[in-house]
Amino acid sequence: HKKYAPVEPVPTFTRTWPDQVVTEAPLWASVDLRDGNQALLEPMTVEQKKQMWALLVKIGLKEIEIGFPSASQLDFDFTRWLIEEDQVPEDVTIQVLVQAREHLIERTFEALKGARRAVLHVYNSTSRVQRERVFDLDRESIAQIAEQGARWVQSYAARYPETEWVFQYSPESFSSTEVDYAVEVCQRVMDIWQPTPENPCILNLPTTVEVGPPNHFADQVEYFCQHLPNRESAIISVHTHNDRGGAAASAELALLAGADRVEGTLLGNGERTGNMDLVTLAMNLYSQGIDPKLDLSNPDEIIQVCTECTQLPIHPRHPWIGELVYTAFSGSHQDAIRKSLRRQGDDEPWQVAYLPIDPRDLGRDYQAVIRVNSQSGKGGMSFLLERDFGIQLPRWMQLELAPVVQAASEGIAGELDSQSIYELLVGHFIRAN
Ligand code: KIV
Ligand code: ZN
Repeated sequence: HKKYAPVEPVPTFTRTWPDQVVTEAPLWASVDLRDGNQALLEPMTVEQKKQMWALLVKIGLKEIEIGFPSASQLDFDFTRWLIEEDQVPEDVTIQVLVQAREHLIERTFEALKGARRAVLHVYNSTSRVQRERVFDLDRESIAQIAEQGARWVQSYAARYPETEWVFQYSPESFSSTEVDYAVEVCQRVMDIWQPTPENPCILNLPTTVEVGPPNHFADQVEYFCQHLPNRESAIISVHTHNDRGGAAASAELALLAGADRVEGTLLGNGERTGNMDLVTLAMNLYSQGIDPKLDLSNPDEIIQVCTECTQLPIHPRHPWIGELVYTAFSGSHQDAIRKSLRRQGDDEPWQVAYLPIDPRDLGRDYQAVIRVNSQSGKGGMSFLLERDFGIQLPRWMQLELAPVVQAASEGIAGELDSQSIYELLVGHFIRAN
């Protein structure tokens, strides 16, 4: 049909990303307190921002975008609180967002006065739809907005020499921007900032709206990296949204394609369908043997703080940490898990059917893996009796008890616990005789 056009192809180039593998964790940046916050029905209070900040620091995020201080008094005050109350650990850098407009940039620098180190993140939108339908400006005028923004950032930074500044530029709507033009705009920004490999700037490439498949975004990122003069003087960052459900895939492929840094939020809160979920990508890498260098050992705390601060529930099937992720309801799955767990040695690579990782790595207890309900067969029931009571039922007893257990589960709403199964066993084989 003709209502929607497919994404424009990336110009021909020698693509290498399909042959690459990710071998180390990217630099992570959280945008929970900015992108995540701006998408909430009720923005976070100062207390909630403080709570989220503490969690992000505890998890090990080293770059944290804390808000949009020129647009929100609360964000301005929060920035001041972090700086004046000395809340930012030595190894953590705060980041703030601002549009390429002088009075907003001026106010942003006021908010950051006295910061030890800060990322000043300036952006303007570059896609064709934004140029033609929103701003009514041609390519040159949009490039000049970026250049002007870069100049203001540079000249205001010079007024605050006590702070170590890192400059970040985002061609907002990058994934809908002609990639050669995105290279040109970023190059013009870099010409002003004059970064070096020792003192690089950050170029952040967003799928502001995810309009294409993840492989297309990876092509855009690799093309951008290959064609950017002075590539070694820029940290290439990606900032993916989840409109097509591909935010984590886009970021993961972008790492193959040469990105160094990834922006996202815990559990994926953010505009519309959300930002890329940092937990998902970190765990994707972890499951490939890469240390994500984030402490995700207490997912319940992450869930608790995020739900308190965003007022958004987490789906029970959320990748890696949802409540139902390490459960198996079907009998054949339960049986396969039980058999593979028995054979799993402590020091050998994890190889358990239906469990992509060891739930204990996330502080989860794999004792909760097997649940018995009306859909599960003898495998789950036998597992629970063995695990909790040390009873190994012979096969003939399993066959006889399974229908009794299934009949009992039909009468209840949830699943049967091991005590109930034990009582059914006793009732059936002992009391009955
Ligand atoms: O999604 C986006 O493009 C943004 C930018 C401001 C980086 O949030
Ligand atoms: Zn965003």
